[in-house]
Amino acid sequence: MQIAIDGPASAGKSTIAKLIAKNLDFVYCDTGAMYRTVTLLAKKNNVGYGDTFNILKLMSEHKIHFLNKEDGQHVYLDDEDVSDAIRTEEITNNVSQVSAIKEVRTELVQMQRDMANDINIVMDGRDIGTTVLPNAEVKIFLIASVEVRAQRRYKENLERGINTPLKELQDEIAARDYKDSHREISPLKKADDAIEVDTSDMTIEEVVKKVTEIVNEHK
Ligand code: DC
Repeated sequence: MQIAIDGPASAGKSTIAKLIAKNLDFVYCDTGAMYRTVTLLAKKNNVGYGDTFNILKLMSEHKIHFLNKEDGQHVYLDDEDVSDAIRTEEITNNVSQVSAIKEVRTELVQMQRDMANDINIVMDGRDIGTTVLPNAEVKIFLIASVEVRAQRRYKENLERGINTPLKELQDEIAARDYKDSHREISPLKKADDAIEVDTSDMTIEEVVKKVTEIVNEHK
């Protein structure tokens, strides 16, 4: 069974996808982490975020993979655990540029399809229901207002010792929404057969309950 969870930045996709995967004993795949790792790869090698040729070259020379550990899923670039390094502001603010490159998407979409082949999986991203897994049995499109998403990000940041002004986070989220929704290749878009869930006024438990009900209806 394939469960696709899409939606804009900070709508709660990964939190919900991880919990659903854990409850159902499915594999979880965070596709945003893959685009973030390619962005980090460019940064580490002083390659411009729009330099398609050199980014593709780096991708062919390095390996991105996931490892499940007790405290959750970790992302690796070759032998290095980059799970924290891909969450910095620098990467967050530039990942939309790298993920708009057609050739980067082609490579990562293939990797994602290979990962989902023949297993039970919950995959989250922007184009899972529309492009990566168009035949997924369950497609969820999670949304929430920009204000609520910025507030959630603000709290998460504080827990990690980062104090970015709320207004700055709102602007950053709105800018990323715009870029992700307006890019030419596989823009962020609700699949026709996806079920939209607005999480603005819902707790995590309520969203998990709602998504679980939807999954059960499709079993
Ligand atoms: O989910 P996230 O915020 O970690 O994703 C980071 C960026 O990667 C997001 O701004 C757009 C891009 N992305 C994408 O284009 N397609 C996906 N399937 C997942 C993420």
